[in-house]
Amino acid sequence: MKIAIPTETDPTETRVAATPETVKKFVGLGATVAVEAGAGAGSRILDADYAAAGATIAPDATATLADADVVLKVRRPTPDELKLMKRGALVVAAIDPYGHEDDVKAMAEAGVAAFAMEFMPRITRAQVMDILSSQANLAGYQAVIDAASNYGRALPMMMTAAGTIPAARVFVMGAGVAGLQAIATARRMGAVVTATDVRPAAKEQVESLGAKFVAVEDEEFKQAETAGGYAKEMSAEYRAKQAALVAEHIKKQDIVITTALIPGRPAPRLVTAEMVASMKPGSVLVDLAVERGGNVEGAKPGEVAAVGDVKIVGHLNVPGRIAASASALYARNLYAFVETMIDKANKTLAVNWDDDLVKATNLTRDGAVVHPAFAPKGGS
Ligand code: NAI
Repeated sequence: MKIAIPTETDPTETRVAATPETVKKFVGLGATVAVEAGAGAGSRILDADYAAAGATIAPDATATLADADVVLKVRRPTPDELKLMKRGALVVAAIDPYGHEDDVKAMAEAGVAAFAMEFMPRITRAQVMDILSSQANLAGYQAVIDAASNYGRALPMMMTAAGTIPAARVFVMGAGVAGLQAIATARRMGAVVTATDVRPAAKEQVESLGAKFVAVEDEEFKQAETAGGYAKEMSAEYRAKQAALVAEHIKKQDIVITTALIPGRPAPRLVTAEMVASMKPGSVLVDLAVERGGNVEGAKPGEVAAVGDVKIVGHLNVPGRIAASASALYARNLYAFVETMIDKANKTLAVNWDDDLVKATNLTRDGAVVHPAFAPKGGS
């Protein structure tokens, strides 16, 4: 059983899909692990550390992927990478399949069994495999760090001999995994924090972190959470009420961090250009939803945009900005899943294709696209 960890080919990807810790565990389960030279560089992991954990360091992608039974990646494999993989190999990654149906087809044609980790059900058993949570949590933290570094003032109140500096006011919009961590981080840094969400369950969570909840709490709000725990798209009427509330609140804020997402829909537009213009000089907005269309009007993907005296931070791949921590957690998520596919007694791969977690994440198998969301109509 050979497990391969190639270097990510996307030049903006700093993360890696295995760490010395997970390599050691795979070796303990009887696997041979090949890590491409330099694969951990963006996450501050040396080849020597992987070797000490029991991996073989392969000089290039060809040698890494040759004959691998399992390929662990951060991003979905490119056509060039697929050419180097054997048919039947399991590929476990953040595949990001929506809008990339041709790439899913290419994975099927290459004969690999691709698993999209972001489709992992959010059930207790799979919490340890939840890459969305592990990465969003770090993104929420990093958003506050990015905000603080773009803000020309201190976050905590400081009483000094030279006088007092007021605490920064931070407003977090969207209190899911990323938002809750942003709240916790901003509070630890001494800011005065408020937060909003459309799901009623968020209120208690926000308050338990010591932040004030600000939201339009009408009848629609009471129904806004789906059975799966996600937000619904709100009505035009609700959005107008929300915008009026936010417009008043945002004027008084120094930092705004937006994290609002609706599964399968573009990110809701929560902050208009007018609201941005109403903020004080030196204020900072960080839009964590920028890759999904953005919550803030004027946010530019991959840029820190200056709008008058206000900055809108639109970094891409925010977990990749804190790569060593992001890789450590991502690698553990992958290990926890792949470990369930290994027969410990025989030290061989033994995928249970009927397992709920396997069925939920498996996109391609035996030359076909098999996931219900992507399979050709009529099934094949
Ligand atoms: P997400 O990334 O889909 O969305 C982020 C936040 O934006 C959500 O809290 C959502 O309600 C909010 N939002 C959407 N539209 C909005 C609007 N118009 N205005 C303000 N806020 C808006 O959500 P995430 O972080 O993936 O969490 C979704 C839910 O899943 C949460 O309830 C979370 O606690 C739950 N969860 C459960 C897990 C488990 O049981 N294993 C693991 C992780 C999360």
